Amino acid sequence: SCVKTKEEYEAALADNSFDLILSDYSLPHFDGLAALDIARQRHPETPVIVVSGTMDEETAVESLKRGAADYVFKDRLSRLPSAIRRAMTAAEEATRHQQAEETIREQAALLDMAKDAILVRNLEERILYWNKSAERLYGWSAAEALGQNANELLYPGDSLQLQQARQQVLERGEWVGELQQVNREGQPLTVESRWSLVRDPAGQPKANLIINTDITERKKLEAQFLRIQRLETIGALTGGIAHDLNNLLAPILLGTQLLGDKLAGEDGQKILGTMRASALRGSEMIKQILAFARGVGGGVVVVDLKQLLAEVGRLVRGTFLRAVRIQINIAESLYSVLGNATQLHQVLLNLCVNARDAMPRGGVLSLEASNITLDGKVTRLQPEPASGPYVMVTVSDTGQGISPELMDKIFEPFFTTKAPGKGTGLGLSTVLGIVKSHGGFLDVASEVGKGTTFQVYLPAHLPTEPATA
Ligand SMILES: Nc1ncnc2c1ncn2[C@@H]1O[C@H](COP(=O)(O)OP(=O)(O)O)[C@@H](O)[C@H]1O
Ligand SMILES: [Mg+2]
Repeated sequence: SCVKTKEEYEAALADNSFDLILSDYSLPHFDGLAALDIARQRHPETPVIVVSGTMDEETAVESLKRGAADYVFKDRLSRLPSAIRRAMTAAEEATRHQQAEETIREQAALLDMAKDAILVRNLEERILYWNKSAERLYGWSAAEALGQNANELLYPGDSLQLQQARQQVLERGEWVGELQQVNREGQPLTVESRWSLVRDPAGQPKANLIINTDITERKKLEAQFLRIQRLETIGALTGGIAHDLNNLLAPILLGTQLLGDKLAGEDGQKILGTMRASALRGSEMIKQILAFARGVGGGVVVVDLKQLLAEVGRLVRGTFLRAVRIQINIAESLYSVLGNATQLHQVLLNLCVNARDAMPRGGVLSLEASNITLDGKVTRLQPEPASGPYVMVTVSDTGQGISPELMDKIFEPFFTTKAPGKGTGLGLSTVLGIVKSHGGFLDVASEVGKGTTFQVYLPAHLPTEPATA
């Protein structure tokens, strides 16, 4: 279409159906350069050719500077067709180029959305590409990582696996395996790594494309499961050993009895008495270990907590270091509870073991139990108000205490502050699980450096009252 005024021109630009703009430099109503500016602004992809009879060389050059594709003087109009052809080809090329760039940008955006860390490094180990997930995983931004030596950035040292990876990717073009790396803070990471060799057009190895999946957590869990498995095996073994020990002790016990009838003399009797007492105590401890190792035995029964507490007290007294003083204070007429004695035994023992661990240099562990009638009691672990008759068992220590930041974490499975092999992080989560399944709840109070108190509330099982209705 052909337009003469600025208004017509703008209207025509708005309808979008054109491939090329031919602009007369000296329009009657507005200036050719102004027309050019408007076109460049609204349709940067459309080529503009300025045609003029009056334009001087300088203005022509100015029009090129402002983005015209070409200019043609009116006395040399024969040049116009070839100028148009050239402008159109250049415009198409520019569009293609732009599309290609867009595709690359889109692909890069996709790579950034990937959960895996994706990086490219050349054969000298320099990092050439680093996606968003790599930033997240390692803590280095792309700007910091690009150009760095990947070995120095990501690996605590040269490992056999790394050497194997480098060699195999050159020989076979790819490698898959697990690698130990470190992040920016120097914390260890385990990644499942896939390497593939990128070649230049001549087929020469040029770079490695590497995709790393973070499996640090999975590895940790696996290690923990293996540890628990080991503990279970030890539990099973303990059961077996306890049986054998029991069988060994039986003749000793019997022997002390038989010898007692034959040996005369006060000294002899005294020695025999000590031997007998020791053997009895040994067999008593074995019985307890057996009951514990059997684990989930026994259904729901009326549990005499008083007896259970006394048993735990004996076990703890017999096995904990002397430096841990043990105080036991159990109310005279303690309510019974309904539940699984083995599991409740485990609850108390876990709490006692934690208390002991909190007092490596000794202290006081106290075990208390009393009846209590609750009236809408809530604790941090029990948002639902609880009412009615309960038995409250308190296990408290004078140990290192628990800092407020850790309070919410200690009941999480696998949370432990103890050295590997010392803690499983399963004690308190087991305690919580068992207490909940008994319809009870927990409370905990602690002061760093002073000690910790755990309270276990279990609903009392009262003898059924005679019906009144
Ligand atoms: N009585 C306590 N005093 C101080 N810290 C405790 C006490 N009981 C538990 N904790 C903390 O809670 C963590 C989790 O305990 P637990 O689940 O029994 O696992 P573990 O004993 O195997 O570490 C412990 O590692 C410790 O940090
Ligand atoms: Mg524990």
